[in-house]
Amino acid sequence: MRMRVVVVVGSLLLVAIASAESQSEPVVPSYRPLSWDAAYTKAESILAWMEPGDKNSLLRGIGWDIKFDKNMIPVGVDLRKDWYVGNTQAVSRLGVPSLNLQDASGGFRTYWNDLVGTVTCWPSQLALAATWSPASVQKFAVALGKEFAGKGANGVLGPAIEVHRVARGGRNFEYLSGEDPYLGARLAAAYVTGVQSEGILAVAKHWAVNHQETNRMLESSNVDEKTAWELYYPPFQAAIDAGVSAVMCSYNKVNGQHSCSNPHQLQAVLKEKMGFRGFIQSDWWALHDNQSLALGLDQDMPGWPVEKIYYSEPSLIRSTVQLAQETPHSVDGAVRRILAAMLRMGLETSTKCAPPHCQAWLQRNVTSAEHVALARSLAAESIVLLKNAGGLLPLSHSTTRTIAVIGKAATAEAWNPDGAGQGVNDSWRFGDYYSGGGSGHVVAANVVTPLEGLRRRAALAGIDVISPPSNDVAEALAAAQRADVVIVVAATTSGESEDRPDLSLDDGVDDLIAALAAGGTRNKVMMPATLSDTIEPSTSLEINYTEGLATSYRNRTSSMLIDA
Ligand SMILES: *[C@@H]1O[C@H](CO)[C@@H](O)[C@H](O)[C@H]1NC(C)=O
Ligand SMILES: *[C@@H]1O[C@H](CO)[C@@H](O)[C@H](O)[C@H]1NC(C)=O
Ligand SMILES: *[C@@H]1O[C@H](CO)[C@@H](O)[C@H](O)[C@H]1NC(C)=O
Ligand SMILES: *[C@@H]1O[C@H](CO)[C@@H](O)[C@H](O)[C@H]1NC(C)=O
Ligand SMILES: *[C@@H]1O[C@H](CO)[C@@H](O)[C@H](O)[C@H]1NC(C)=O
Repeated sequence: MRMRVVVVVGSLLLVAIASAESQSEPVVPSYRPLSWDAAYTKAESILAWMEPGDKNSLLRGIGWDIKFDKNMIPVGVDLRKDWYVGNTQAVSRLGVPSLNLQDASGGFRTYWNDLVGTVTCWPSQLALAATWSPASVQKFAVALGKEFAGKGANGVLGPAIEVHRVARGGRNFEYLSGEDPYLGARLAAAYVTGVQSEGILAVAKHWAVNHQETNRMLESSNVDEKTAWELYYPPFQAAIDAGVSAVMCSYNKVNGQHSCSNPHQLQAVLKEKMGFRGFIQSDWWALHDNQSLALGLDQDMPGWPVEKIYYSEPSLIRSTVQLAQETPHSVDGAVRRILAAMLRMGLETSTKCAPPHCQAWLQRNVTSAEHVALARSLAAESIVLLKNAGGLLPLSHSTTRTIAVIGKAATAEAWNPDGAGQGVNDSWRFGDYYSGGGSGHVVAANVVTPLEGLRRRAALAGIDVISPPSNDVAEALAAAQRADVVIVVAATTSGESEDRPDLSLDDGVDDLIAALAAGGTRNKVMMPATLSDTIEPSTSLEINYTEGLATSYRNRTSSMLIDA
């Protein structure tokens, strides 16, 4: 018997087979941002009434506490219950609301277990990149903006738009640009426009050249201007041109200086050359200099001196006394930018609540059948069919009586925080097959496993499904003999703060695929020939971008793409 094998990576197969209904209603913006000029005029009139303490409120976050062990030794940090991941104090006297900012890449972050199931777990941003569709990304961003607004938030800590450099990068799944600056530019603009059309601030990140997790707090990415401008900056320029409210500076150093205290990156490039008029906030605890305002930073996030624990360096601003030591020019400059970005988005009238009084908003269920259907159709759109040998797809009853669904990933459950709180168990860092790990992780509720989804859909078509949901080669070959078509469900995950150890799929499934493919007619797939055809994370603290523009498919000497 001729065996036909379809390899689909990840858990998205069920949506590929369940034909996705396309949603074609026009996007009607709920909110139109003011012009920057109008926003600055309004900001000026509020700034004129501000005392130093009011200004301080805007320059640093609140809501995180230092966690002590029983000997009162600081051991980490805790976010207060029912606060957002990023918060500033409201200045009620002047009608300035709090900033209520939340992560981001997989949807509204389910920071506490009582949020699980109340938000949509979206396809990864890299999957969205694979739709190649600004219109689809904008539709996603509008829905995301609505969920954030429904949760009482007024800003989303996205889009993340690094153009990949390191193939094993732990956060690559979060990056909307994929490997391409032009694609990244188009999609970044769509994301910003979509989110902000719901009156929610978008925050482009991470500025700049933040390409690996290995040594991310310490390494210096050393890049020449041509490479930076042609390969890595275009998505940021596009986000700025689309009116992004804020930019987040990154953990790493750029050409020897920490990104968040790097006047060339913050002042000369972002604010002057790129014409950015919003504000720059630090990545969480990425601040490294107490004179950062003068160097171009505008806001210290999350504003608690965790650097006392990790770096023994002082925070940007902790008291009005310290504030008084900064130059009035740089203080007012930063406050003016933050105010303008907030007023431009109308936050003074739209903000729902200020922590700690946001619990009722945070508890709201903002997902819906409509959003789930959109997530599903975006996931389907993101699937790239490289080759349909012999017109195998779509499967139908006339050619296919039995499908063998093979692979452990076919029955993978979503990670369940189990009531213990995500901080208790580190698994959130690694994520699962439904949502990548780290700050962008959203716990997926109500998962339909690939096997279950395929069973349901196949039943409608009168096709039988047999399955050994394991990666055992002998079992797989035996099942394959009894089937007309073999579907291998294979997966991997990754997360923030660590790069991937290699490019393999989990549990030896690459070998399983090879064994099955050898037993029958191949389906051809494209993949990097070897790890050495990619840029690996460097363990050096000085990372020289000597390859210039020649990453990924731009590497002319590479055998990068081969027929497997
Ligand atoms: C900034 O830090 C330096 C040492 O790192 C210290 O001498 C100085 O007093 C600090 N300035 C403020 C305003 O805290
Ligand atoms: C939230 O609403 C969705 C759609 O209406 C529903 O499927 C889901 O079960 C709800 N979540 C919770 C936690 O009640
Ligand atoms: C952490 O999560 C893993 C994977 O879900 C689980 O096996 C383990 O028991 C959990 N540990 C704790 C302390 O909850
Ligand atoms: C990076 O470049 C600098 C300056 O040219 C050089 O001193 C250093 O050795 C290089 N580092 C590595 C790891 O190649
Ligand atoms: C380009 O391809 C060559 C040959 O495969 C490889 O040695 C080199 O590391 C690649 N360069 C980059 C930047 O990926």
